[in-house]
Amino acid sequence: MAFDIDMIKKAYANMAHRVDTARDLVGRPLTLSEKILYAHLWEGTPTKVLQRGKDYVDFAPDRVACQDATAQMALLQFMHAGKPKVAVPTTVHCDHLIQAKVGAEADLKRAKETSNEVFDFLESVSNKYGIGFWKPGAGIIHQVVLENYAFPGGMMIGTDSHTVNAGGLGMIAIGVGGADAVDVMAGMAWELKFPKLIGVKLTGKLSGWTAPKDVILKVAGILTVKGGTGAVIEYFGEGATSMSCTGKGTICNMGAEVGATTSTFGYDESMDRYLRSTDRADVADEANKIKSYLTADPEVYANPEAYFDQVIEINLSELEPHLNGPFTPDLATPISKMAEAAKENDWPLNVQVGLIGSCTNSSYEDISRAASLAKQVSDKNLKTKSEFTITPGSEQVRFTIERDGFIDIFDKIGAKVFANACGPCIGMWDRYGDKAADGPRNTIVHSFNRNFAKRADGNPNTLAFVGSPELVTAIAISGRLDFNPITDTLINEDGEEVRLDEPRGYELPPLGFAVEDAGYIAPAEDGSHINVKVSTESERLQLLAPFKPIGNKLQGVKLLIKAFGKCTTDHISMAGPWLRYRGHLDNIANNTLIGAVNAFNKQTNFVKNQLTGEYGGVPDVQREYKKAGIFSIVVGDHNYGEGSSREHAAMQPRHLGVAAVLVKSFARIHETNLKKQGMLALTFANENDYDLIQEDDIFNFLDLDAFAPDKPLTIELVHKDGSKDAITVNHTYNNAQIAWYNEGSALNLIKKQNA
Ligand code: F3S
Repeated sequence: MAFDIDMIKKAYANMAHRVDTARDLVGRPLTLSEKILYAHLWEGTPTKVLQRGKDYVDFAPDRVACQDATAQMALLQFMHAGKPKVAVPTTVHCDHLIQAKVGAEADLKRAKETSNEVFDFLESVSNKYGIGFWKPGAGIIHQVVLENYAFPGGMMIGTDSHTVNAGGLGMIAIGVGGADAVDVMAGMAWELKFPKLIGVKLTGKLSGWTAPKDVILKVAGILTVKGGTGAVIEYFGEGATSMSCTGKGTICNMGAEVGATTSTFGYDESMDRYLRSTDRADVADEANKIKSYLTADPEVYANPEAYFDQVIEINLSELEPHLNGPFTPDLATPISKMAEAAKENDWPLNVQVGLIGSCTNSSYEDISRAASLAKQVSDKNLKTKSEFTITPGSEQVRFTIERDGFIDIFDKIGAKVFANACGPCIGMWDRYGDKAADGPRNTIVHSFNRNFAKRADGNPNTLAFVGSPELVTAIAISGRLDFNPITDTLINEDGEEVRLDEPRGYELPPLGFAVEDAGYIAPAEDGSHINVKVSTESERLQLLAPFKPIGNKLQGVKLLIKAFGKCTTDHISMAGPWLRYRGHLDNIANNTLIGAVNAFNKQTNFVKNQLTGEYGGVPDVQREYKKAGIFSIVVGDHNYGEGSSREHAAMQPRHLGVAAVLVKSFARIHETNLKKQGMLALTFANENDYDLIQEDDIFNFLDLDAFAPDKPLTIELVHKDGSKDAITVNHTYNNAQIAWYNEGSALNLIKKQNA
């Protein structure tokens, strides 16, 4: 679907030379991850050895993908870049804003009514700027990307953490914040710390009840939710090549659950088969021409300890099916131990609902294997004990499984088919209406990726366990968490003891994939005449105005809040109900810093208004300063802005008139986001100066007119009693970033350069 074979040919033409150069520089064989990374340097041909876990490197990704929730602000910003078209192939996917309730058709209709203006906006911006648009119901971003755009050896970024799914087709695919996507769409480099490398050697072969999902459930148990942080996980070995491409996608998808930057697999025949079956024989032909560059050098997999920072080995022939959870994806329990674990932990044994599908597990292989179990319900005169739902990952998969009779089979066990969208996977599941917060303690099993409290249904008392679609289906049939289909039997409607046969399925549809309307809308060739309309009445969308430069005469700046302790991007720009306003800067700004603790009274959202002496909510007080034309400053502790890369956490304070953020230390991405929005991101040269800041302080910047790289700045603090302190503050701005500040934002500068 509109993938660009010429772009792939060009990428492959550069790959050999760049990888060979990198190998010479590094002086040893290269892993696949290194090959892809070195082949995508912004500078082109590599000129130096990059240090893993140390060097920040500029990359040139091949593609960008955005989902509907994060695309809104990203595209609103992109509109300011002054570009007629996106600089790299980009797609937008409407999948997050569709709530699952009664079934696909009705749910989709309701979503189109409630989020119509957001979908219309995304469609018109996509049309104008050369972005491929996947309309609501077309499918989940990661499944659609795997089916249409992922290619071996490529690099992409996406505004969703499970973008990593595309590693199943041998890509380096990384989840990022909207601001990063805007940079790449606008033709700028994308920066990443050169990752560490974890090698996972898969020996043996999957069989019987064990599925690719069990590999990542096992890896999650080993690495825990933090173990992959800052690393790319590269899978290899006979177990890897004997597995389907979509199975590899499942494994890479859940790499996000161990914190990995991304995961990937070397090019092999399963990828060739998948490319051909998804109508991309030309990509497979091109990949086959440079095969050796699309996997690691042979010496690497022969002696992995010498090339990876960490190596894990898993024998697939011995791997058991797992269920991970509840409340965390790394609590891994092999199915043979589940009865014991459930008893010990008092987990409710009755399973209320089994849910299969989602971006993680809705391939033809997954669905056909699950259907082979569902079919046994009627064949063996069983009755399905739990509710059962299916969330297909794309219209192409849904159409094909319907054609091949699988939906009928699921129908017979009373299954509900939800829309081709995220639905329960992202908490868009209206299971309890508005009573979710007080829902009963209960157990569900699903084949998704995340199982944090409230993730699926908003009920903090739901215990969610993650398993393969096969295991989820078997457990739903039995209705029990402690059912082990390998050893246990069921009693059928005739009172007979029966055993479920092992699941069987097809890697790919024997009759090929089919679809009537995949849901893709190609952009206009020339979008210059297209008007992007956003109603001024809208509460969900608001066109952005360029930020005015703050300037270098910052005097009389008031303290907005001195934040105490942890202040993450969630404290700065809360999620939950505020997600609704992600496309409306002024409305979402009403949550600015409402979660931060005020160091002077240890309360949240309760700060002193220096103009009136009264206390109020942070956004309210800040709006008073803004009205009076007064800039303010936020003071914070260590690792300020940790958490997500959400650019709202920088844009909101900027929009409300905060000029500077002064902290003991920053989370790096947030620091960069502040710089991009044309603000001052500063750190105390002497951390103890944090204690000098008093509630009524006024800040005068004494030497901002000499703002230069590596040159600390001086701020005069004027206290309420008239006494003064001068403090030194550091910054990490380079010349380009100072230009962002001077222009008011990075986008303003891009626009100026494009004018
Ligand atoms: Fe994310 Fe699941 Fe959708 S992980 S993309 S929410 S299906």
